[in-house]
Amino acid sequence: MKNIIEVQDLTKNYGDFAAVKGISFSVHEGEIFGFLGPNGAGKTTTINMLTGLARITSGSSTLLGYDLALETKKAQQVMGIVPDESNLYDELNGFENLCFAASLYGMERGKREARARRLLEQFGLADAEAKPFRAYSKGMKRKLTIAAGIIHEPKILFLDEPTTGIDVASARQIRNLILDLNASGTTVFLTTHYIEEAERLCHRIAFIVGGKIVKIGTVDELMSQAQDETIVQFKLDDGRAAGLDQALQARFPEFRAEFLSDDTLRIHSPIPISLMPFIQFFDEKGINVYEAKVIRPSLEDVFVKVTGIEIDKMSKEKEHRRR
Ligand SMILES: Nc1ncnc2c1ncn2[C@@H]1O[C@H](COP(=O)(O)OP(=O)(O)O)[C@@H](O)[C@H]1O
Ligand SMILES: [Mg+2]
Repeated sequence: MKNIIEVQDLTKNYGDFAAVKGISFSVHEGEIFGFLGPNGAGKTTTINMLTGLARITSGSSTLLGYDLALETKKAQQVMGIVPDESNLYDELNGFENLCFAASLYGMERGKREARARRLLEQFGLADAEAKPFRAYSKGMKRKLTIAAGIIHEPKILFLDEPTTGIDVASARQIRNLILDLNASGTTVFLTTHYIEEAERLCHRIAFIVGGKIVKIGTVDELMSQAQDETIVQFKLDDGRAAGLDQALQARFPEFRAEFLSDDTLRIHSPIPISLMPFIQFFDEKGINVYEAKVIRPSLEDVFVKVTGIEIDKMSKEKEHRRR
């Protein structure tokens, strides 16, 4: 697989403070790569270095072979940037904003107007093309900012928290737009503090905390790395689970039983579990089994385990800051 971005020991200091502490990773051509981490983790600082918006303190980043520090302009020609705060103009309307963005990339007039109209259509903003940007809702603003970011058909698109601070419906539309763009060949690098978003969109995810990458991999890889036990859940006749503690312990001393409710029992095991002995055991006791399923950890479980950060804390901090 070809790497479109290569990052080596990338570091950013603000005075004495190290915001990004020597991170290394690569982004594969054609994938959606996600940076997932709480507020202050260093996501925006990283994306700013990768896009040439912030100076690199040490280490290197290359994009399609261009060194970000030395060939910034060349790299910027093949990338699209969607910052967390919009970089468009309040007094220009949607159409004008897109045409202006296109002119910055040297697109000629006829081409940029056609491209602007096509994107306004594709992003559901055709009705609002003549309205000034300041009159747009937050969701519309974010969509137009993304349209401006891809006006020159970049090979790779950088999105800094694309769905933070906007309504649920717009967020959904934006996630679908990202998937469509990726399906048509655009590599995507995005940051988010929403674990579900990372799980739904990204082929690979890096957990970033305190300026460091603490884990990186596909969703499946991340899950299997963090899984140190197998959990099987049984649904039994109502009221029958609770009385089984002693008998289970005696028959299956190597497993741990957990009683979730009167009819729901979980078995935890350090090794994969075969269901048959349990089904037999319940049968001997004259108890019906209505359901037996393996419980997989969620990406959220993995994130909490690896980083020690609670997810609701992660979102709350952000929302608080945004208010
Ligand atoms: N211009 C700056 N000067 C000093 N510190 C900064 C500056 N920008 C960001 N930081 C600090 O760097 C850390 C990472 O910030 P940032 O990259 O914005 O995190 P994130 O995008 O993950 O929320 C934070 O502690 C932040 O306060
Ligand atoms: Mg940020």
